[in-house]
Amino acid sequence: MNEDDSNSIKNFLLSYGLKEEESEKNSDIIIINTCTVRQHAEDKALSFLGSLKKISTNKKIFFIGCAAERLGEKIKNKFPYISYVIGAKSYQKIYEILRNELYLSDHLIQNTFSLNSKISDYQTISRGCNMKCSYCIVPDVRGMELPVPFEKIIGDIKKKAKNGVREIILLGQTVNSYIDKQSSKKFIDLLKEISKIDEIKIIRFLSPHPVFFNDEFFEEYKKNHKISRWIHLPLQSGSDKILKKMRRGYTIEKFKKVVDELRRSDPTTSITTDIIVGYTDETEEDFNLTLAAIREIKFSMVYCFKYSPRFKDKDQLTITNKELEKRHQVLLNEVKKIAKELMYERIGKTEEVLIYSKNKGITISGYNCCIIDCKNMKEGDIYKVKIENVKNNTLYGRAI
Ligand code: 5AD
Ligand code: SF4
Repeated sequence: MNEDDSNSIKNFLLSYGLKEEESEKNSDIIIINTCTVRQHAEDKALSFLGSLKKISTNKKIFFIGCAAERLGEKIKNKFPYISYVIGAKSYQKIYEILRNELYLSDHLIQNTFSLNSKISDYQTISRGCNMKCSYCIVPDVRGMELPVPFEKIIGDIKKKAKNGVREIILLGQTVNSYIDKQSSKKFIDLLKEISKIDEIKIIRFLSPHPVFFNDEFFEEYKKNHKISRWIHLPLQSGSDKILKKMRRGYTIEKFKKVVDELRRSDPTTSITTDIIVGYTDETEEDFNLTLAAIREIKFSMVYCFKYSPRFKDKDQLTITNKELEKRHQVLLNEVKKIAKELMYERIGKTEEVLIYSKNKGITISGYNCCIIDCKNMKEGDIYKVKIENVKNNTLYGRAI
């Protein structure tokens, strides 16, 4: 979502004829869009901010996003050269501020058609989150779930499609809980309506929450092949005790039912997940349950995060840093092994590949894919490809 917001701000400025500058030193404006989901992300933003001190004179520096929301104006005490602090809840304010600061007026707007043309693009469908996962700061810094109106989403995607977009990635903290109360349109209605746009070939979404899948979705998934066959489904832990403490709202059995249903609907489905290691009270036994779950479920990829406490007074680390590192490493090794096995299982199978550029693209199941001996492949088109090999996390195959 931060990437999407940053792109929007960038495109806004480019549309007024401003130029993107590679080095901070030569820039007049620097916008730092921040994450605070883990302390490490915030530390990185602050250290970058610190590095600007020497070159900050006569520059407008914007500190925006989730870390800005968490830290607020007081961050200016430490870094007085920040011009504006804009938190994630009010990030839209940046447009008005930029308009005023830079004297932007509509007659300066240039044709941005070529700037925006890409094969794959994001579409934010809701902001914020109504869940209360105990480890997570997102509801605090982004607020309650706020859907983008249904018609606005469809209109935006139609425009993107006309501009050359063929794969749309719907974004929301719990993307599949989407409901536009005004029109009573839900996530499933969005999928159906977007599928009617001819130019859109693949619809992906990030991240669904396991509790919001239902039979209506599985029915549609079975028959609608525009819906991505790569589903990112965050599990977080394989231990029911920890899942309960995390307030995730499901047990490991319930999670597995969703996975089974997805694979029953389409056995080519590839499923990825997020795992937090070392959450408060995670014992060796709980950790082993997570290992067992990822072995059993066989995720194509697992994003493994070391638990980072985000609240002062609750849910602190209960294992040493050394133990945390160790569990993280053990998990990573296991994940890599399974991911590799699953990639090799794709050899000999036929995959649909959306071409991003030249002979490179992405399979509908979410793998990077290179086409061997290709001639005249058209960017944005889908090819059926027989997979022959795996190298460097990429599938290699021939168009058939
Ligand atoms: N510590 C570590 N990882 C976290 N995540 C969210 N909050 C934390 C935290 N406090 C992870 C979850 C989520 C992903 C985006 O970030 O796994 O799915
Ligand atoms: Fe955070 Fe996702 Fe849980 Fe919402 S559903 S509180 S964003 S982890």
